[in-house]
Amino acid sequence: MCQKFHQLFQKKKHGIPIAMVTAYDYPTARIEEEVGIDVILVGDSVGTNVLGYETEREVTMADMLHHLKAVVRGAPESCVMADLPYGAAPDPQTAFENAQTLTRAGARIVKIEGWEERTAVVAALSERGIAVCGHIGYNPQVHGPKGRVFGKEASVALELIRSAQSLERAGAMMLIAEKIPEELGRLISSMLSIPAIGIGSGRYCDGQVLVFHDIVGLAWRTFRHARAYTNIKESTTAALLQFKTDVASGAFPAEEQVSHLSRTVLDEVAGAGKGW
Ligand code: KIV
Repeated sequence: MCQKFHQLFQKKKHGIPIAMVTAYDYPTARIEEEVGIDVILVGDSVGTNVLGYETEREVTMADMLHHLKAVVRGAPESCVMADLPYGAAPDPQTAFENAQTLTRAGARIVKIEGWEERTAVVAALSERGIAVCGHIGYNPQVHGPKGRVFGKEASVALELIRSAQSLERAGAMMLIAEKIPEELGRLISSMLSIPAIGIGSGRYCDGQVLVFHDIVGLAWRTFRHARAYTNIKESTTAALLQFKTDVASGAFPAEEQVSHLSRTVLDEVAGAGKGW
């Protein structure tokens, strides 16, 4: 097992929560690596957060690769995870080829949405040396863009538990549990030996993942499970309005933003321009 995963397993073992955040570009990835985010996820949420798509289903392998490469350039030392986008894993062989494309582009682990039915694909990837993260609970690629909590009924809760165990047995190195009740998040995390990271799944998972845009207040929708720690949308709006005002008034650029010709060069240029 590589050092990055070893560290995550150690955190789980010692009860130290794992912090995971999405990134889709170079500057964000650089900041996330600098602050020591444990896992940087290039999620298919790039579609709705960055590309202006209606749903995650529109995200292609080409989109994923473009953003993954930028993130890897910004965070070369980090554990970067990349999503297999919608339609990229219809069968084990195609899933393997697409997963390999993502790992060759720098992803250390690929994530695949789906419950127990994904066991064969996860097994095929992990048997061929690809680190895989499962993703159970709410799956935007499968359930559509409107999220809801899964597992409130005993039958679905049991299905989620079976799925988590079966994905782990198939060789998954990590698991994301999205929008499941806190009690179930706790139970699944304690049953598995791999790290189970929650989003909207309560306080007792082995770690938490959030979308970068939700953390910094850059999203157009707000979610109960997320917390905005700043409001980039407001500060960016204020900065852009001020720039526009300064250009209109002549306050930008000022002396510190300009360069000058020396007196001699200015005289020479002015002298040469007699015939203009
Ligand atoms: O694509 C994504 O950002 C995700 C997280 C919400 C887990 O899958």
